[in-house]
Amino acid sequence: MPRKPLIAANWKMYKTPAEAKAFADAFLPLVAGHTRDEIALFPSVTSLATVVEAVAGSNVAAGLQNMHFAEEGAYTGETSASMLKAVGATHTLIGHSERRQYFNETDHIVNKKLHTALKHGIIPVVCVGEHLHEREAGRTSDVICAQLRGAFEDITAEAAAPIVIAYEPVWAIGTGKTATPEMAVEAHKVIRDQVAEIYGIEIASALRILYGGSVKPDNASDLLCQEQIDGALVGGASLKPDSFAAIVKY
Ligand code: PGA
Repeated sequence: MPRKPLIAANWKMYKTPAEAKAFADAFLPLVAGHTRDEIALFPSVTSLATVVEAVAGSNVAAGLQNMHFAEEGAYTGETSASMLKAVGATHTLIGHSERRQYFNETDHIVNKKLHTALKHGIIPVVCVGEHLHEREAGRTSDVICAQLRGAFEDITAEAAAPIVIAYEPVWAIGTGKTATPEMAVEAHKVIRDQVAEIYGIEIASALRILYGGSVKPDNASDLLCQEQIDGALVGGASLKPDSFAAIVKY
């Protein structure tokens, strides 16, 4: 079965509900009828319900940028899987490098969140990627594989099927420095091989691996035409409807 690419917009801490609605109103007509790829928007928590409502019945899905692993409880400021689902969202990002860097999200926490997302039938996009000093030290594969092994701990092959991985080299995020298609393909192969080692070839060959890090309309096709690259996680260039639509329709 060919893997259906996923093109996802990570809006980070941008857009009020009104701005999110204005984006959806402008964006949906631009991608109407586009079936080659899955499309998903990841707004902030306050805009999630607005986005879910705006994309209802369209070819665009909505998800959160982060979700807590607990079912409920005294976790001030957090959002649970049930809350995400009750609003009508279907996806969540897990372990984005900004969460790892600024909010101390470890592989262990990523693993707990992944367990919870899968239990609730939420499609998780798990982010992995190396820092520049790790790449320069020749440790890219080691870092990515350790993140994957940590994320997948005690998750069975059966449960793992819906997982999407986003390879996002930290040095490429928000910097305008994109990995070359060769670098991305090499990392994606490392990821697929590691997943094959854990879950076997069948799960590994069905796994969708997105690339993220300064994806723009003018570099999207070079990256997305690669057989190993099954979509993109887009930050800055997803904030404008025409720019994100151009990436979707590379
Ligand atoms: P960027 O962000 O496209 O702005 O580099 C990507 C991401 O953080 O997911």
